[in-house]
Amino acid sequence: QNLVAIVPAAGIGSRMGADVPKQYLLLGKQTILAHTLDCLLSHSAIKQVIVALNPQDTFFQQLTQASHPKLMTVIGGDERADSVLAALQQADAKAWALVHDAARPCLTHGDIDKLIAGVSLYEQGAILAAPVRDTMKRANADGTISTTVDRAHLWHALTPQLFPVVTLKQNLIEALAAGATVTDEASAMEWAGCQPGLISGRADNIKVTHPDDLHLAALFLSQHVSTT
Ligand code: CTP
Ligand code: MG
Repeated sequence: QNLVAIVPAAGIGSRMGADVPKQYLLLGKQTILAHTLDCLLSHSAIKQVIVALNPQDTFFQQLTQASHPKLMTVIGGDERADSVLAALQQADAKAWALVHDAARPCLTHGDIDKLIAGVSLYEQGAILAAPVRDTMKRANADGTISTTVDRAHLWHALTPQLFPVVTLKQNLIEALAAGATVTDEASAMEWAGCQPGLISGRADNIKVTHPDDLHLAALFLSQHVSTT
């Protein structure tokens, strides 16, 4: 199978509130983005890694991974979906795209393998996801509880998300043109009437979003090294 990894890394990390975009914060010896790229570049099924960068990015070229032969960069866009689309424009049309957030540095080869193996059951693609653990409440506008939502059918959408390059590109373009809310690749596919599969991934594949997440990600990464 012909696999290209797409890495949206053009965000500014406003919720993190650091003085550099969060993907360039250090986690142990390397930046968050360097950890993410290491995992993707070292996977034998992934033939190319296309990273979408902010036009103002001055940090990427300093990464040791920047000159890796599998790696290519493009300029991203205003929203995550625009960045993913910019990268997809450069991808081999016959390939499948494995889209993974730069801000998820705790990805493992095991999870990538699970997604690749699992997607064969779903013609239209699949995503890694984690079942919701807590009891879920729908809120009223005043902050009181309206109802309890059945948790059995709720999942956290994670990345990577795996789809054919051509259909993902097409559906992203159409969903964005229609003004749909496209927060992940699956939502563009759903918008077009597809039903991607949910494949249970590791709960420690977190997106580093707030300052607290840095400590968690550091802990998870240190656990990975000691167990693999
Ligand atoms: N991203 C991107 N292009 C954008 C916005 C986000 O490539 N225009 C990327 C981010 O770099 C990140 C991933 O999409 O790797 C997930 O987005 P998020 O966690 O929201 O990152 P930021 O947008 O950077 O953070 P914030 O929303 O707090 O500003
Ligand atoms: Mg964002």
